[in-house]
Amino acid sequence: MPIDLASAAGALFTTQGRIDPYPLYRTIQQVAPVLPMAENIVLITGYDECDRLLKDPIFMAGDQYWRDREDESVENPHLAKSLIAASIISLNPPEHRRLRLLLGRAFTPARMTAMTPMLERIVDELVSEMAQKTESVGVIDFMSEFACRLPIRMAGAVLGLSSADVEGLGPLVHDLAVAFELDISGEPLNAANSAAARLRAHLTDIIARRCGQPSADDDLIRSLVAAAPEDFDALIANLLLLLVAGQESPSNLLGNGLRILLDRPELAATLRAAPAGLPAFVEEVLRFDSPVQMTGRWSNQETDLGGHLLPREGYAILMLGAANRDPRFFLHPDEFLTARANNKHLSFAAGSHFCLGAALARLGARIAFHALIREFPGMSLADEPARIDRLSLRGYATLPIRLAAM
Ligand code: HEM
Repeated sequence: MPIDLASAAGALFTTQGRIDPYPLYRTIQQVAPVLPMAENIVLITGYDECDRLLKDPIFMAGDQYWRDREDESVENPHLAKSLIAASIISLNPPEHRRLRLLLGRAFTPARMTAMTPMLERIVDELVSEMAQKTESVGVIDFMSEFACRLPIRMAGAVLGLSSADVEGLGPLVHDLAVAFELDISGEPLNAANSAAARLRAHLTDIIARRCGQPSADDDLIRSLVAAAPEDFDALIANLLLLLVAGQESPSNLLGNGLRILLDRPELAATLRAAPAGLPAFVEEVLRFDSPVQMTGRWSNQETDLGGHLLPREGYAILMLGAANRDPRFFLHPDEFLTARANNKHLSFAAGSHFCLGAALARLGARIAFHALIREFPGMSLADEPARIDRLSLRGYATLPIRLAAM
């Protein structure tokens, strides 16, 4: 591999690279949209290549890489990773299809429509709490006051959990989500495992209460228990996955999108005057600064990828955030264009693991941005925001804002 490509790929996995990976993606993509990193690992930054691979049945989901590793610094080196590895996102046919049909019942279009008034109510509550808080403190952190609080309640609602059930779980879910990074160790890994243990205990409690009470409702937790009563570990793994997937990426979508609006007050004004443009705005945020930048797949047979022979059990790192900026697929990929036609970004992936919560994430974001631009026309950035030091799930740690013009 030429030296500049090797160092660009390596730089992606440094703090600086994680803060702004886009120039690095471009450097790599222009020369090698499929870049061999080692004999059995390729880094894929091209749109067509990512899309094709996600839809190719010889490529499997799962996490053998982590399962084979040891880290003696923690009591259970695998808890967070192994829970994710036991959940739907890591399964393959035929188990994947069976579970997907079952979980899919919670995300039907009818269910999304029915949830709309409740989502509007939660958004209105959070908006008025922010307005009250800003009167006393002036500057508030959008991430902790809004972006991290809305999605956990949304995800809880899908699972049939009350706001009391999910209250306070946000930070634990955030710690657990680091398990989606390619390579973690030390303190973040310890925190992820300890969060996984606490969340597992909390969910076990909720399930025991839920299943001990008679109910006429066909809620998701009861359906999952009924479908495989003997497989309690899988139940916990899938509930945890739904909480993590339902919390982290939607929070980051809200933060990444608000930053774009704060940088472009004229766009906020346009959307305020014509909210019908909000769905296109949300799609462009997803493309431009994807909350999920990366996923991976194993090949179950030797295969030729762009001239590189990936062996059986070789691993492809798929940079979805890079694919979304591929100039061979998107015109002017580094410009934020809400009028973009055919915005087929890969932020929800593609193929059989296409995000199950995509409709919910889109609905929540549209309602949230609508309320924010309507209620706070003078909103502005109050200080330099800080990125979370993660590559896979991209977002802000803090986003300090003022809600009214000074
Ligand atoms: C902006 C928000 C979101 C983004 C960008 C996002 C992105 C993704 C991506 C890229 C995948 C595929 C991963 C892979 O193939 O390796 C995925 C899968 C999944 N997502 Fe999301 N997601 C979001 C919100 C949600 C929400 C709100 C939920 C549920 C409450 C959810 C539940 C899931 C589930 C269950 C899967 C696994 C599907 C399967 O394996 O068949 N996601 N998501």
